[in-house]
Amino acid sequence: MQNYKYISLITLIGILTLFSCNKNEIEVVPDQDFNENWLFLKDTIPNGETIALDDSSWRTLNLPHDWAIEGPFDKKNNARNGGLPIDGIAWYRKHFTIDSKYQNKHVSIEFDGVMDNSTVFINGHNVGERHYGYSGFEYDLTPFIKFGENNVIAVQLAPEILSERWYPGAGIYRNVRLKINENVHIPQWGTFITTPKVTSDMAEVNIETKIKNTTNKTQEVVLETTILDTKNTSVAVSSKKITLSNNAQDKQTQVINVPNPLLWDIGKPNLYKAISRIKIDNVLVDEFETEFGIRTIAFKKEGFYLNGKAVELNGVCMHHDLGPLGAAVNYRATERQMQIMQQMGANALRTSHNPPSTELLQVCDRLGIVVIDEAFDEWKEAKVPNGYHKYFDQWAETDLRDMIKRDRNHPSVIMWSIGNEILEQGKKDGWKIAKMLNDICHNEDNSRPTTAGFNYYPASFVNKLAHQIDVVGVNYKPAYYGEIREQNPEMIFYGSETSSQTSTRGYYDLPLDSDVKRETRQVSSYDVTVGPPWAYSPDVEFAAQEANPHSLGEFIWTGFDYLGEPTPYGGRDNSTNGYWNDDWPSHASYFAPVDLCGFPKDRFYLYQSQWTTEPMVHVLPHWNWEGKEGQTIPVYAYTNCDEVELFVNGKSFGKKIKGKDLTDVFTEYRGFKDSGYEFKKGIYKSKYRLSWNVPYQPGSIKVIAYKNGKEIVSKEIKTAGKPAKIKLIADRSSIDADGKDLSFITVRIEDKDGNLCPNADNLVNFHVKGAGVLEAVGNGNSASLESFQENFIKAFYGQCLLIVKSTKDMGEIHIEATSKTLDSDSLTIETK
Ligand code: GAL
Repeated sequence: MQNYKYISLITLIGILTLFSCNKNEIEVVPDQDFNENWLFLKDTIPNGETIALDDSSWRTLNLPHDWAIEGPFDKKNNARNGGLPIDGIAWYRKHFTIDSKYQNKHVSIEFDGVMDNSTVFINGHNVGERHYGYSGFEYDLTPFIKFGENNVIAVQLAPEILSERWYPGAGIYRNVRLKINENVHIPQWGTFITTPKVTSDMAEVNIETKIKNTTNKTQEVVLETTILDTKNTSVAVSSKKITLSNNAQDKQTQVINVPNPLLWDIGKPNLYKAISRIKIDNVLVDEFETEFGIRTIAFKKEGFYLNGKAVELNGVCMHHDLGPLGAAVNYRATERQMQIMQQMGANALRTSHNPPSTELLQVCDRLGIVVIDEAFDEWKEAKVPNGYHKYFDQWAETDLRDMIKRDRNHPSVIMWSIGNEILEQGKKDGWKIAKMLNDICHNEDNSRPTTAGFNYYPASFVNKLAHQIDVVGVNYKPAYYGEIREQNPEMIFYGSETSSQTSTRGYYDLPLDSDVKRETRQVSSYDVTVGPPWAYSPDVEFAAQEANPHSLGEFIWTGFDYLGEPTPYGGRDNSTNGYWNDDWPSHASYFAPVDLCGFPKDRFYLYQSQWTTEPMVHVLPHWNWEGKEGQTIPVYAYTNCDEVELFVNGKSFGKKIKGKDLTDVFTEYRGFKDSGYEFKKGIYKSKYRLSWNVPYQPGSIKVIAYKNGKEIVSKEIKTAGKPAKIKLIADRSSIDADGKDLSFITVRIEDKDGNLCPNADNLVNFHVKGAGVLEAVGNGNSASLESFQENFIKAFYGQCLLIVKSTKDMGEIHIEATSKTLDSDSLTIETK
């Protein structure tokens, strides 16, 4: 068995024919990718699990699949959930045969997540139910499999509306694997690796391995564990003889020393592998691979330490959807999101507010990003009518243990979060649940601390809920960091959710104003208007973190815009039982510094100016203010250099010094104690932005940034002429021919000289041919009801996005983009 090493059925059959086993060998069958050729029907049908059911008219598709992203958008679906059809009964079925030579083996199926309320049947037998769509699970199919004959796996899903406060997606939206094992094998999540002692000469690697014996006899086995370094060279081996009782599971610990370890670190993510082999009479019966890292973590009241070095957490919270791709997991889309976050300077992620995909943790392991792995948004108290509170009593322990067992080998994971803004914070006995969950985390893994995000302050401290966990997260409370420290001198804490500023890429309101305009459904990218009452601009948090260096850092809400929760367009309304009455057609968030397509908004550069050191400067707004000639336009610059000089049409408007020259931001910190807010406007003097007021004349604005008096970096925006042409820019021009890999193509509307037309909204048509398919389109407009799955979309403030996916054919993908009045553009992507 190999952990997360997928192999298709076809490859498998190929390998098996090549590999005829001799007498002393047992075929160790790798886990099989079980995603292809499922049948799908979104309907309530009686006996959908029966083998004989005629499913010949059902739609054929490959997993992972999110039916809701196919749309259409509709107000009745509830904007909180993205306005997409996430609910209803649906069935997935798959017919398959397993060669009769596997007759005596152990067969199981592993789902990484099914959204949600799933029941799985094999050949008509119910093998299990799971409610929480984010949990992974495995079912033993052995007793029901008919070897050499047709078998049918059927999965019924029954997701409900308002099961979350955001867009959950719907369907078998994560990967599925079929496993064929010997009856003595390492089960699901069978290893647990920690590195309790690390020096530059030696790392002590502690490996717990589970071994399952489903036979009726005692077995004498050897467990052999080999450590491979970053170059796949074996650096240490340990082997152990074990007697396994019949029909039992055993757990063995091995301590293996790795000399001169290469540490896993932020930006330097060295990864090792443990290969666990089980042998009986010297014959290999199972092989299991675990990727891990060697690193130490320490949480002190002064800060967070990785490998003994203090690290400020510049973190982002993220929901799990992938924008226009919906919730269906895709490795490349996930990797791209986190690469964009790294470019902004983020080094940490909070998987708000649920267990993430395994792929996300793999990406963070491989990019060197630390992670808070979060379990729940609700305990027993409801936030939404069909939320997790319905399942908490019966499932919370299982879901939490499963999350930890699944995720505890990822070096990126540094804390377990037992909840976000759970409403028990306000209840006298809320601490009891916190203690129960905290104890479960420590029981499954005592190498990492627990945490939670509290928005009720001081209620959650008064009722001692905050004291049940190891590291306290506070949401939207920068004004109280000093007080928290003073009153709780030993407490380790951080900003688990910060800012919640809202804005729209490319949209600027003038004159500057603190009000969100309802009619536009867009929020100004000057980032002086903030949105909901608890929000405040990033500047306020920067200052609070500086003033409270003992805080571990912050996690902004959010890194990427996400589907659902279209704040600030919507609000609480008593006519809907206090649930959100959203402001249709807004159906996606406006919170992030990056839009739904992954295009940076101006705020991205504000974070970059605080979180990165590679010299940068950014200037805003655009310079197309037709009709405003002679009027005053505010110009902002964000930099990590010492000072910036602004030139308008070649004329200097002077230098401004970062940290000294202040910019007015219409945001006073408005988060008050507990859940009360005061709706008052205020002016905050920010030392993180530089600004000028200049008269508008078409031409250009240019900023030059200086360090130690030397010109270091510059940026210029020119007034664009009329939209003339389309420009396509692929993030990668060569992708894998695996039927999964993606190329993200930025589509720009430019004038004849190549300047971005900042107000262009031309409709663009796409023609994709050859070794790839059009997977999705998007434009980052949270109020647009355009489909993500058509071969056309309108540009939004000059840009839109095309996502193409490879097929399994090697060759070329030919892409052409056309628009009525514009010159078209084309490009070719190679698939290998
Ligand atoms: C927080 C909550 C998040 C999100 C955010 C929006 O209170 O934890 O899930 O709703 O507000 O600002």
